[in-house]
Amino acid sequence: MNSQTYVNFFRQTSPYIHAHRGKTFVIALAGDAVLDGNCHRLLADIALLQSLGVRIVLVHGARPQIDQRLAQSSLTSDFKGHLRITDVEAMICVKQAIGSTRLQLEAELSMGLPNSPMHGAEVRVMGGNFVVAKPIGVIDGVDHQHSGEVRRVDHVGIQSQLDSGAMVLVSPIGFSPTGEAFNLSYIDVASHAAVAIGADKLICISAVSNISQNGGLLRSLSIPAVKEYLKNSNAASQLEQTLLCAAQQACKGGVERVHLIGYRDDGALLSELFTREGSGTLIIQDYSESLRPASIDDVGGILDLIQPLEESGVLVKRSRELLETEISRFMVALHPEGFLVGCAALYPLGSTGSGEIACVATHPDFLSQGTASRLLAAIENQAHSQSIDRLYVLTTQAAHWFQEQGFVEATVDALPEDKQLLYNYQRSSRVLCKRL
Ligand SMILES: CC(C)(COP(=O)(O)OP(=O)(O)OC[C@H]1O[C@@H](n2cnc3c(N)ncnc32)[C@H](O)[C@@H]1OP(=O)(O)O)[C@@H](O)C(=O)NCCC(=O)NCCS
Repeated sequence: MNSQTYVNFFRQTSPYIHAHRGKTFVIALAGDAVLDGNCHRLLADIALLQSLGVRIVLVHGARPQIDQRLAQSSLTSDFKGHLRITDVEAMICVKQAIGSTRLQLEAELSMGLPNSPMHGAEVRVMGGNFVVAKPIGVIDGVDHQHSGEVRRVDHVGIQSQLDSGAMVLVSPIGFSPTGEAFNLSYIDVASHAAVAIGADKLICISAVSNISQNGGLLRSLSIPAVKEYLKNSNAASQLEQTLLCAAQQACKGGVERVHLIGYRDDGALLSELFTREGSGTLIIQDYSESLRPASIDDVGGILDLIQPLEESGVLVKRSRELLETEISRFMVALHPEGFLVGCAALYPLGSTGSGEIACVATHPDFLSQGTASRLLAAIENQAHSQSIDRLYVLTTQAAHWFQEQGFVEATVDALPEDKQLLYNYQRSSRVLCKRL
């Protein structure tokens, strides 16, 4: 990467750096992620997030580590569904496995060799008895013994550690007021912790790197879409189901965003949090982007969106300077993460009572989600408030889309005179009109 490319890349990440600073993320790290060769890079990325001002609660799993300990002791454990029945001997292995996984993470987070990405990070890791647990008990005649579920999370204790600048490391083990320890599901602990501390995000790093359907990656899913997916998709693995149920629970408890990302893809965490494309699947309560009039700060985002369309000749070229002077004519559609996914502009055509809608564009990753239709409706409202009762559009490729939105074919002669003089016959755009 040459230095200018690097500078451009670094500048592009700045909106995300500002957006994440001071926010609280609960990161659920699967036990198999801790065993993976990519784990130390992942932990360095988590430490980097903390250096950028993100408050981090890291909840780790230990399922494969527990299986290893059981095997070493020639023990096996029964499962009821995906729940382990933890008897007294198995609980000894659970404590050993969780203890050593925790120590491994603490050791890796303490690294600071000059030639490592952790140099200078100085992460202070704190832990404690933050999770109060209760036994799962007897279900259908089966006693789950030392397998438990979360009863509550000491959010005050966690917050005070975060306030002191520490990273909080939570293990999948909880204690009951009777002084017993219980084996918990790390994802359950993570979603309860995220709700209890009012986290801004729950990030689940596991073998599931995203959710896809019919070969297509689902970049974002609303909670109703998650329900639909679980209902209709026979392909959802047990792990996907567990993660999606935890995501639903977290969203229901007020966590606005849940990200599912994979541990095997190097850099997946950073690309999910600092690039528009992301790498995994984002789950949100309700996918509805917000629309608002554009401001001067949106010029960069609009240019990013329209430049590829200008280069392919779909849209007329606009310079940054022109866009800056015309920015008040634009409406933008924003993704819940704050970035721009669509735009449209309204140009009144003199005092003729008519206007032109132009520069309607949706980011390719977000097509067919109704963004342009909502922008059109917003532009029509704006036109109405400016006493515009006829809306024209000049388009080379989207005539059918506008027809489906109630526009009808018109001729160049139908345009107000001033606009006719500016008509570019080489471009031969189709003219369409809608009476409001
Ligand atoms: C046209 C455009 C703005 C639609 O954006 P969008 O946010 O996907 O639009 P909506 O979600 O409201 O509508 C999507 C529907 O319109 C259809 N559609 C999209 N572009 C179309 C086109 N050029 N012709 C006919 N139908 C089209 C989609 O197939 C989809 O229908 P479906 O759900 O039945 O498959 C987008 O394709 C785009 O950015 N095009 C390039 C820019 C352009 O040509 N702008 C118009 C000139 S100002």
